[in-house]
Amino acid sequence: MLSKSMQDALNRQVMLEAASSQAYLAMASWSEIQPGLDNVAEYFFLQSEEERVHMLKLIRFVNERGGFALVPALQQPIITFKGLKSMFEEFLKHEIDISQSINELVDLALKEKDYATHNFLQWYVSEQIEEERSARVLNDKLELIGNDKSGLYLFDRDIMSTRQGEQKK
Ligand code: FEO
Repeated sequence: MLSKSMQDALNRQVMLEAASSQAYLAMASWSEIQPGLDNVAEYFFLQSEEERVHMLKLIRFVNERGGFALVPALQQPIITFKGLKSMFEEFLKHEIDISQSINELVDLALKEKDYATHNFLQWYVSEQIEEERSARVLNDKLELIGNDKSGLYLFDRDIMSTRQGEQKK
């Protein structure tokens, strides 16, 4: 059985994963209307779906452990960006915040000696390592490319390959 504080903290994470899904959906939509960013758009459509799966896993876990998962209200995320670089900076910042929040949940699970939740959260810990890594790699590439148009063309062409490791899950 989940404690009230653990349930509240997990429900907060449900809200954060839903917000991530919305944020990445907005990035996908913005990218889709920019010239030459078709694969970047595809990348964020998939990323958005993945975040929804993260949310669903939490909802099922909370209910399974005798809690009540709360479906959060939708808030409009950032919907336009100054450019590709600022959008990817936002992506990395977002993933770092999510990692921090998962770490806090792990802390709480240990404090409460809730080993079932601690075990459940390990999947999120690994997932965040991978997601932060992908976001960092993409930011580093954009830093190198600068405003070089052929570099940006290749960035879009190759972006899906950075997801390959994740798709096996
Ligand atoms: Fe589910 Fe990338 O946070």
